[in-house]
Amino acid sequence: MEVIIKRDAQEVSLEAAAIFRRQLQEKPDSVLGLATGSTPVALYRRLVAMTQEGDLDLSHATTFNLDEYVGLPGSHPHGYAAFMRQNLFDHVKVARWWIPDGMTNDIPQHCAAYEQAITDAGGIDLQLLGLGSDGHIGFNEPGSSLGSRTRLKTLTMQTVAANAQYFASPAEVPRHVMTMGVGTILEARRCLVLAFGEGKAKAVAAMVEGPVTAMAPASALQMHAVCTLIVDEAAASLLQRKEYYRWIYENKPAWQRA
Ligand code: PGA
Repeated sequence: MEVIIKRDAQEVSLEAAAIFRRQLQEKPDSVLGLATGSTPVALYRRLVAMTQEGDLDLSHATTFNLDEYVGLPGSHPHGYAAFMRQNLFDHVKVARWWIPDGMTNDIPQHCAAYEQAITDAGGIDLQLLGLGSDGHIGFNEPGSSLGSRTRLKTLTMQTVAANAQYFASPAEVPRHVMTMGVGTILEARRCLVLAFGEGKAKAVAAMVEGPVTAMAPASALQMHAVCTLIVDEAAASLLQRKEYYRWIYENKPAWQRA
């Protein structure tokens, strides 16, 4: 796993945006896996700005979001479809975007169809991920099978509390979600994980330097051949080999840089 430590969230987002630009230059019709939450907001803002400046073209890309709350219609202001429209798709044209339908009346069938749509699109080229403070990726909470596929999950109380900021009260946060599985995520050709702030430091350390365990689903990314983690100083604070990661980055050959 490549670990890049940047000064702050803004610098993390700039580096991530450069990786997106390079991906789309190399393959304009890339299939992108996208994430929601507070983590990718600055990156999306940057992608919108780059598009407006003519520096990025997403118009041939297909996107698949990681997850969606069960029971929220696509129009719900706190659903992830609304989040994606507000942060990206209202400003930038993509060829096609997919997000699980929180109102489906057949969750297993809908999840299987979502997996099939990813396969039919050729698989995900670049998967963007945030990291939960409990070590989740997508909504794969601790205990999730490391081979799991898109399915129904019940959120932990910690995640419900963390996401309550987007709702009027914690009682309004849905308990259930549909999420790509850890196994689905591991099949992406490249993974890009972003994390900011002290609140993520433990989860970052477990992901990079802990054992591979379902108790920290992000640790499964240690098994991924092409995974980049970009963190700010606060999120990196508990990493033991910080200086080595910096050394690698400083000595990176020019052809490898985004
Ligand atoms: P956050 O959530 O970006 O809102 O911190 C990350 C996640 O839960 O995946």
